[in-house]
Amino acid sequence: MSATIIDGKAYAESLADRIAAAVPAFKARTGRAPGLAVVLVGSDPASEIYVRNKGRKTVELGMTSFEHILPATIRQEELLNIVAALNANDLVDGILVQLPLPGHLDELAIVAAIDPAKDVDGLHPQSAGRLAAGIAGPVSCTPLGCLMLLKNELGDLSGLDAIVVGRSILVGKPMAQLLLNANCTVTIAHSRTRNLSEKVRLADIVVAASGQAEMIKGDWIKPGAAVIDVGTTRVIRDGKRKLLGDVDFDSAVTIAGAITPVPGGVGPMTIMTLMHNTLVIAHHRSALPVPPLW
Ligand code: GUN
Repeated sequence: MSATIIDGKAYAESLADRIAAAVPAFKARTGRAPGLAVVLVGSDPASEIYVRNKGRKTVELGMTSFEHILPATIRQEELLNIVAALNANDLVDGILVQLPLPGHLDELAIVAAIDPAKDVDGLHPQSAGRLAAGIAGPVSCTPLGCLMLLKNELGDLSGLDAIVVGRSILVGKPMAQLLLNANCTVTIAHSRTRNLSEKVRLADIVVAASGQAEMIKGDWIKPGAAVIDVGTTRVIRDGKRKLLGDVDFDSAVTIAGAITPVPGGVGPMTIMTLMHNTLVIAHHRSALPVPPLW
């Protein structure tokens, strides 16, 4: 038996269509486009590509992109001043400071300086607190994309056993909260978890976000389970560049009921959920009802 392949690219394209369709109505009501500001410090090549893609997609969907590309040597105070200026700019709805930041900068303090009403990727402590309390608010883009794919595939998630492998603030922790809010019974596994394979084998939903390429093997998966792979490890194999997930796809695809490929699964969703969050935040800031997007 072979699993259904969850097509994140197709879902992201359908979400893009719904976002693009909602933007003109927002402009007509407010006289302006939703605005997203992305701040990149330094010149990490992968981050540069992400930031460029984010800016391009923002404009493609009819929204306004504000980009701040800053030197790796920027001082904390200067960066805080830029965040404060973006907080004060009414044309900016969402602010994203690309992580990781260079080591001399205090990442937590910078994220905490973002106006929570503009916290487009849900990393502000207030957003994390809202999610934990089950109060509506911005949700980190990658886990939100995973949840959209799971609901699209499985419908109601109530009562299902889920395991999230990884406990980062960007993915693992918010993912676990989202699944809990969707009435799953959630296990959070991490590098110190004992007997991981046995715990994974009990789960109807596996979200792999450990950052360890191909760590989760097919024989760890419960037959028929839904597997969401957040991993993106770049390797050279047989002289070719390859992107690997955290799941050993070839063995898992024969056991799982549904699985996201890498690439083409979670990856395309992440930018689109950022666009989704920008549009949602813009509506909240303008006291407009949010149109149904998913
Ligand atoms: N770096 C990698 N992914 C993300 C993300 O979703 N948000 C931010 N701010 N930085 C990232």
